[in-house]
Amino acid sequence: MSDLEEAKNFVYNILLTDKTTENQIELYDEIADTYDQKCVETLYYFPEILSRELETFNLPRDSKILDVGAGTGLLGKLLHASKYTNVDALDGCATMLEHARKLTGVYKNYTQALVVADKELPIPAKTYDIALMSGSASPAHIDVTAYKQIIRVVKPGGIIGWILEDADTCVEVNSRFQDDFYMKTLQKFVDEKLWVAVDGYNPKTIANALLNRPGDVFFYKVL
Ligand SMILES: C[S@@+](CC[C@H](N)C(=O)[O-])C[C@H]1O[C@@H](n2cnc3c(N)ncnc32)[C@H](O)[C@@H]1O
Repeated sequence: MSDLEEAKNFVYNILLTDKTTENQIELYDEIADTYDQKCVETLYYFPEILSRELETFNLPRDSKILDVGAGTGLLGKLLHASKYTNVDALDGCATMLEHARKLTGVYKNYTQALVVADKELPIPAKTYDIALMSGSASPAHIDVTAYKQIIRVVKPGGIIGWILEDADTCVEVNSRFQDDFYMKTLQKFVDEKLWVAVDGYNPKTIANALLNRPGDVFFYKVL
């Protein structure tokens, strides 16, 4: 198997396939030390794309941002380079977060917590101006039903943005994306008046996001 084939096999047949959140976190625990290298091998540009799209909102540089599923801090480093000064990291995997903790000046606070539908995050309601998910909204990661927990910690008028694999890929690899469940759940939160879609996204499809395949970018404004 070529390196690219091996990388594809890891992403599509291991990382994104149906599994429990606990099993996914165990997998990240195993790969934490080689994660950044894996991102190079898998041609992973989610952090670059999401931080670039965020720039179109022209937000104040001291906006309070939560990097949800921050991992080793790849998105945080880009936000820091864009002069954002008030960024916190949250991740369910202690070992991934350990790498983010080593970065200087990128994150202010760190929270180790799972984002799951039936458990409140250990963060007060309406704390953040912005919440971002780079790669952590992908299949078998933070389930769409759990986005409600992220909505809770964002201020009214605040923004939640994320990037994940394109819809065809998601349906192919994971049962949670079948029967349009993903888009229907996002719309359910609109119907419940929890958020509204930001024009031009939902999704905005961007080429060459991961393994030469596109990624889908979403932005919603919390009500
Ligand atoms: C693909 S990595 C993305 C890391 C970083 N944001 C980036 O773009 O490089 C996904 C991260 O989400 C975390 N994660 C996955 N599911 C999670 C959940 N339900 N709750 C909290 N963290 C989760 C994993 O531990 C991992 O660090």
